[in-house]
Amino acid sequence: MKNIQWYPGHMAKAKREIGEKLKVIDIVIELVDARAPVSSKNPMFNEVIKNKPRLIVMTKKDMADEKRVAYYEKYYRDQGYFVITVNLKNFNEYKKVIDLCKEVLKEKMAREAAKGLRPRPMRAMVIGIPNVGKSTFINKIAKRKATVTGNRPGVTKAQQIIKVDKDFELFDTPGVLWPRFDNEITARNIAIIGSIKLQILPLDELFIYLMEYLGKNYPHLLKDRYNLEIDFEQDWLQRCFEVIASTRKIKPNRGDVDYDRVMELVFSEINDGSIGKVSFE
Ligand code: G4P
Repeated sequence: MKNIQWYPGHMAKAKREIGEKLKVIDIVIELVDARAPVSSKNPMFNEVIKNKPRLIVMTKKDMADEKRVAYYEKYYRDQGYFVITVNLKNFNEYKKVIDLCKEVLKEKMAREAAKGLRPRPMRAMVIGIPNVGKSTFINKIAKRKATVTGNRPGVTKAQQIIKVDKDFELFDTPGVLWPRFDNEITARNIAIIGSIKLQILPLDELFIYLMEYLGKNYPHLLKDRYNLEIDFEQDWLQRCFEVIASTRKIKPNRGDVDYDRVMELVFSEINDGSIGKVSFE
């Protein structure tokens, strides 16, 4: 696999910006993709978050393998995170996330009240790598609510805040984290789940990896969707292309299988969920 560019500059900037905003928020809602909940989580974030409560929202529940989801819910809970798994496309599912935040912060707010501090709304920020559902989440809330401009120290003027209800406010701009590429598998996973542009990876290598993975872990989905059974004998890959092209009626290109079209089709069906429920780790 081609070396993927690592941008320390982006990382440092994101870290600084999130660190700034953190001063005025009570909880960070960290979104990860339930299909690759470790690869889609940026470890850099732990260095910034310090003593804030740690909440992980695994999105795209509808596209992920339930058994793997259950495994990773426990995996993160065992590490001290609060965890919730959601399908953000479901009507009102975002509310479960708000409710969990309130639950997590209940004690903190009660402590402040006991000290005689003025009651105030809890304030949250959404962060995550690209494509994990940050804007979907924020837009669902924003559509129903008015935004107010932040006027606390450290909040830039332009920063809008969405008043979710009298107890809860949310920054309307998410913290975008640069995905991590610390090993090949992570890089491949985040490419497959759509968090980095496929063009920056060698598509054919990614496709081989994907077919091998699906053939070993989800053979029934390949059978259902493409009538494909991979035997991993010699020429298995060529057969994958041929079978998919034939099942899905992809026209040949100059007499040969249109390899690019086949790969595009499979990647897009992974990402719109039509292949079925798949997890990559
Ligand atoms: P981002 O801000 O973190 O980059 O992610 P964004 O909200 O743009 O979401 C990326 C894509 O993932 C969007 O699809 C969005 O609809 C989809 N998505 C987010 N959460 C879920 C979920 O829980 N389940 C499913 N099935 N999809 C989810 P898109 O095709 O790019 O846009 P759209 O056509 O849906 O508007």
